[in-house]
Amino acid sequence: MALLEVRNLSKRFGGLAAVNDVSLDVGQGEILGLIGPNGAGKTTFVNLLTGALPSTSGTMLYEGRDVTRLGPHQRCRLGMARTFQVPQPFGGMTVLENVMTAALFGSSRTGRTRNSAEARARAVLDDVGLGEAADDRAVSLTTAGLKRLELARCLATEPSLIFLDEPLGGLNQTEVTEALDLIRSVRSAGATIIFIEHIMKAVMAVSDRVVVLANGAKLAEGTPSDIVADEQVQLAYLGDVSGAVDRYARLREGRTA
Ligand SMILES: Nc1ncnc2c1ncn2[C@@H]1O[C@H](COP(=O)(O)OP(=O)(O)OP(=O)(O)O)[C@@H](O)[C@H]1O
Ligand SMILES: [Mg+2]
Repeated sequence: MALLEVRNLSKRFGGLAAVNDVSLDVGQGEILGLIGPNGAGKTTFVNLLTGALPSTSGTMLYEGRDVTRLGPHQRCRLGMARTFQVPQPFGGMTVLENVMTAALFGSSRTGRTRNSAEARARAVLDDVGLGEAADDRAVSLTTAGLKRLELARCLATEPSLIFLDEPLGGLNQTEVTEALDLIRSVRSAGATIIFIEHIMKAVMAVSDRVVVLANGAKLAEGTPSDIVADEQVQLAYLGDVSGAVDRYARLREGRTA
């Protein structure tokens, strides 16, 4: 049985189908890369799967249970957690307090005492390399620090299924390499991951399988090497280059038609 089963999921914003009849399965322990051009509907899809937005139609089963109508806090307690594309820390709190909040409210499996939440938060901060920054205000973190904090808050809830919405955005090459190692280690610890990313090399390197969204719909699905070779996918990213090449050739030959 798949850990997550998505069937015919759609989200309309007025006349715009931001997510259009998407179905997919995510297997236990898998890293599923989710790619697509800007505005393809990736973040909206995650918002639907985590309950941040209600869907217009379709269903989502998590561990065989219908979670379609559950709120984000309920799904989080069942083991679904996410990071935000634009980090959303509690800016006035310290880094430690941010992560403790996640440990306290995230999952029913986490100890709910202040002490156990603090122990959990400190362990996670060490794992993501933010141990030294525990007492800093969250607003004082760099972009890379905020991305790590997003991941720490997500992990502190002890999730089974993790949605990472562009966790590498704004990171330099060294930070990207470190973040990818971290993502692999999170999977090794037993989590299933849906990984949204624009850096193609990174997605292809860590994903077992890749799904491509374009204009809200699923355009392609396959292994990283299948996807790289897929003409439809290349067109979605590059536009209709064949037509442009044709027009250029005609211009050079002095033809106008
Ligand atoms: N709350 C909203 N109200 C109206 N339209 C929205 C809303 N959220 C997203 N959209 C629109 O839905 C479409 C999909 O947006 P979404 O943010 O999901 O794309 P994305 O694939 O995550 O893009 P990016 O790669 O830029 O992050 C876009 O056309 C966007 O403008
Ligand atoms: Mg997005």
